[in-house]
Amino acid sequence: MQQETQKKLIFSGIQPTGVFTLGNYIGAVRNWGILQEEYDCMYCVVDLHALTVRQNPTEFRKACYRALALLLATGLDPQKNILYFQSHVPQHCELSWLLNCYTYMGELSRMTQFKDKSEKHADNINAGLFDYPVLMAADILLYNADLVPVGADQKQHIEITRDIAIRFNNLYGDTFTVPEAYIPKSGARIMSLSEPDQKMSKSDPNANATIYMLDEPDVIVRKLKRAVTDSDSGIVFDPEKKPGISNLMNILSSLTGKTVAQIQDECSSMGYGDFKLMVAEAIVEEFRPIQERFKALEKDKQFLAQVIKDGAARASYRALRTLSKVQKRIGLPPRER
Ligand code: TRP
Repeated sequence: MQQETQKKLIFSGIQPTGVFTLGNYIGAVRNWGILQEEYDCMYCVVDLHALTVRQNPTEFRKACYRALALLLATGLDPQKNILYFQSHVPQHCELSWLLNCYTYMGELSRMTQFKDKSEKHADNINAGLFDYPVLMAADILLYNADLVPVGADQKQHIEITRDIAIRFNNLYGDTFTVPEAYIPKSGARIMSLSEPDQKMSKSDPNANATIYMLDEPDVIVRKLKRAVTDSDSGIVFDPEKKPGISNLMNILSSLTGKTVAQIQDECSSMGYGDFKLMVAEAIVEEFRPIQERFKALEKDKQFLAQVIKDGAARASYRALRTLSKVQKRIGLPPRER
């Protein structure tokens, strides 16, 4: 059923809540389309992880479909990549339980994301939130992923995944591939437009801080106009002293392929206002074809349903193989099929 390749396996998970931001796009999603030629790639919409924070069922379902459609619209080919919903492949949960028994409370208590989220959602510090990294380890180890593209904030979760894999391998013999974080070469960290010392975030309460991939052109222009700069003038790259304008230069550089030095040269006589419009224009043009494809996909429910079904079937086939091996090694009674 499944074509096995000798290519290295890339696995990544993406939270379905909120629309992807310009930061997600430049730092992650955009690069995935390039990887599909060189690697065997799987992208999982991690709906189960998203439940560690309370979700409105109707909104949540929509958000899950939207995330998948947006991945397709950005150029991920569903033939070349496996795209699917985490909840459609029950082996993620099964492996996660088993791995729980090889993970220590102490390790999980040290996770910075758990500490941050516990503070942010003090009224809902659920066991799932605590266990989040183990489900993530299961996601990755289930497919013996070699490389895991993630942002810097997820490195600690990759570390614990490696620790769990090594621990298991030491106990039962080589079972899991020990994965590595894959940090893309290109693409600067994109910062908030309102507080350029903070990362651009999906969940920023300030509506002007974040550009979303589905923002209309006029919204993008408005947000750029309001972007924080400084009282100085001059399009000069200096992330320390001029974080706002440097962030805009980074955005333009990432989208045009020009270096910040080139941009500094070419825009030296420009005022902030004109420069902001230029950056807005570049973003609008970048997102235009993606938004068009997204709208077409949203209408093509049948195609989307087929992609989702195929993706889950292809992922399950691989997942089952690893899970059976793990169950056998641990000593669970074999199940006749
Ligand atoms: N925790 C990741 C994030 O918030 C999402 C995620 C879940 C993931 N499972 C994964 C990323 C497996 C990479 C691999 O961004």
